[in-house]
Amino acid sequence: MLSEVLLVSAPGKVILHGEHAVVHGKVALAVALNLRTFLRLQPHSNGKVDLSLPNIGIKWAWDVARLQLLDTSFLEQGDITTPTPELVEKLKEVAGLPDDCAVTESLAVLAFLYLYLSICRKQRALPSLDIVVWSELPHGAGLGSSAAYSVCLAAALLTVCEEIPNPLKDGDCVNRWTKEDLELINKWAFQGERVIHGNPSGVDNAVSTWGGALRYQQGKISSLKRPPALQILLTNTKVPRNTRTLVAGVRNRLLKFPEIVAPLLTSIDAISLECERVLGEMGEAPAPEQYLVLEELIDMNQHHLNALGVGHASLDQLCQVTRARGLHSKLTGAGGGGCGITLLKPGLEQPEVEATKQALTSCGFDCWETSIGAPGVSIHSATSLDSRVQQALDGL
Ligand code: PMV
Repeated sequence: MLSEVLLVSAPGKVILHGEHAVVHGKVALAVALNLRTFLRLQPHSNGKVDLSLPNIGIKWAWDVARLQLLDTSFLEQGDITTPTPELVEKLKEVAGLPDDCAVTESLAVLAFLYLYLSICRKQRALPSLDIVVWSELPHGAGLGSSAAYSVCLAAALLTVCEEIPNPLKDGDCVNRWTKEDLELINKWAFQGERVIHGNPSGVDNAVSTWGGALRYQQGKISSLKRPPALQILLTNTKVPRNTRTLVAGVRNRLLKFPEIVAPLLTSIDAISLECERVLGEMGEAPAPEQYLVLEELIDMNQHHLNALGVGHASLDQLCQVTRARGLHSKLTGAGGGGCGITLLKPGLEQPEVEATKQALTSCGFDCWETSIGAPGVSIHSATSLDSRVQQALDGL
């Protein structure tokens, strides 16, 4: 087992195009959002496993000796055990969660215990570790925060147990794992996501692991070659929404008006494909006209999503405020409130960006300037920290 401190980060995700249409077999493009979750793992010798999640105010500690004595044979069914509902029930007993434990807290703890006990069980003795996970991502906003959490845990635990090598070389500030190692991280992270979400599509953990941009259709996920990193404003309207209700609403509208709604879904599919083509072109030979195409695609899709019934007054307001400044926005994810993205063209003056952020903030929204197409799960040096990791650590 490794004895050094590990610092890992993984990105969130946004859907660029194809939300809702993807439920009906069309293409979606999901991209890594450079708002990241960070994890620091310190091996220690006090015989405890400590888990702190400062964003949600959680601190848990378990005795390694107690965990070691527990019957965790339910995890030993081959290489990667599927977290069935029965297994999750057993984990709850192991965790010792109180009955009144908040849902987010209990799911985060169960996903951790599942990954810790499953990945570390091959060690002669379970390791004593101190783990802190914190995030720049708002949680529960459809930005893949739980996937980034599972990806960070899987990467750090596999590395500390030497199931995959630490890719960080002397003098590196940051580095990434090989394709094979990322595949293993992604497999485990998917299981962590299953503990949290039951039956997720796997796209969030895939984006968080691989980074960049992914095309997703009927369970098939593939990476876009050389996607450009695009600057965006991400806006959280903070209007709560329910993905399940919105998805059901679109289904009802499709059943009620098949002749009208099916062509909308086909058109959204074509928007995703055109966007994929333009992103490919931008990776090869970037040109300003490509941004104009991306903006038109954003506008058309936003209108389609409104026609599907998943818009919201807050999202209209976001579009109007940015439109008044010559910028183009669409909702991302389920809609009905939640988050939207605004494309920032290169050459846009910083005071203009700041003024837009200010205007959105005064609508009561949260707004971040960030990028999409960001790198996937990465390992950072604990000694030569880049300023962003340092800032995140200072905030702990
Ligand atoms: O829950 P969100 O905001 O990540 O959005 C889900 C995207 C949908 O296409 C609306 C639903 C789905 O399962 O793909």
